[in-house]
Amino acid sequence: MKVLFIGGTGNISTAVSRLAVQRGIDLYLLNRGKRQVDIPGAKTLTADIHHFGEAAAALLGHTWDVVVNWIAYTPEDVQTDFQLFRTRTRQYIFISSASVYQKPPSHPVITESTPLYNPFWKYSQNKIACEDFLVQAYRQHDFPITIVRPSLTYDTVIPTALGGWTDFGIIQRMRRGEKIIVHGDGASLWTITHAEDFAKGFIGLLGHQQAIGHAFHITSDELLTWDQIYQAVASAAGVEAQIVHIPSDFLAQFGEDLHGGLLGDKAYSVIFDNTKIKTFVPGYQAVIPFSEGIRGTLHWFEADPARMQTSGADDRLFDFILTAYEKILLP
Ligand SMILES: NC(=O)c1ccc[n+]([C@@H]2O[C@H](COP(=O)([O-])OP(=O)(O)OC[C@H]3O[C@@H](n4cnc5c(N)ncnc54)[C@H](OP(=O)(O)O)[C@@H]3O)[C@@H](O)[C@H]2O)c1
Repeated sequence: MKVLFIGGTGNISTAVSRLAVQRGIDLYLLNRGKRQVDIPGAKTLTADIHHFGEAAAALLGHTWDVVVNWIAYTPEDVQTDFQLFRTRTRQYIFISSASVYQKPPSHPVITESTPLYNPFWKYSQNKIACEDFLVQAYRQHDFPITIVRPSLTYDTVIPTALGGWTDFGIIQRMRRGEKIIVHGDGASLWTITHAEDFAKGFIGLLGHQQAIGHAFHITSDELLTWDQIYQAVASAAGVEAQIVHIPSDFLAQFGEDLHGGLLGDKAYSVIFDNTKIKTFVPGYQAVIPFSEGIRGTLHWFEADPARMQTSGADDRLFDFILTAYEKILLP
């Protein structure tokens, strides 16, 4: 199977690229070559996907069994892909996001038929618009789409709701014994999926003839409260988290990212029903508990001082919000 990943060296896609090569897939990665990520056995096409001429030149003469765009965020991105791959692939996989599912959820169990509706987060609205375009392209032009909606998925990022990701500041803050903020009462339920688990479900969709026209989420079945998630991160860092609970509605006032990321995503309890991916990819089961996976992630950060960087913005934001909140509690 000849497969193209646009991206392929990122937080989620690196694990998928590695597993694809292990499974004997003839894998090509199209990216700018800015990241020092080694995927032995993959072939590289160097281009910026946002430069149409450059990407078209790099892709010239190729046809594909599967194209996966890991980094399409806007309808323009998928329209470009439709132009590039309309007659050149047997399957096109769009990486959407589980944040497209109805917010707030009218029912906590999320299946692929949960309505797509997110009035809070531009990122999710754009992903919905991408899905809409692709569904039309499938109906009207037989464009062979499959949609995959990851939910919070990690490997080389710190998957916290406030702070973290590629910034190491929250770990340093925890180690200094300073307060961190957990949204709501810390008791709402969430699921975090390791990229290596995600990869096992995802690979089974590549070239899967029955997956055309379908959408899937692929998550762990482990349900944790946000307090448990933050304590697992702190424990991996060798400390106990000093948690302050602050309502999501209050936090949402401190910027677009918090507004969208909380009210448009992580503020609510959700329970992903993974029956569909398990039906299409028999044997798929996430096996990495968060408490274990996050230790691996911290080891990865600590293996290279260049990764243990912080801009200081997280610390400033935590301090700013904590001061504002304490003023309300103790005027
Ligand atoms: N992680 C989550 O929790 C989560 C949840 C829901 C949805 N998602 C979705 O998952 C996707 C992210 O996947 P990921 O984590 O593997 O990606 P990522 O960490 O953002 O990696 C980006 C990849 O794209 C390449 N790239 C970036 N800009 C490029 C450009 N202009 N032209 C060509 N290549 C470019 C990068 O390599 P170079 O820099 O070398 O070019 C790298 O390979 C997104 O679509 C996101 O919406 C993620």
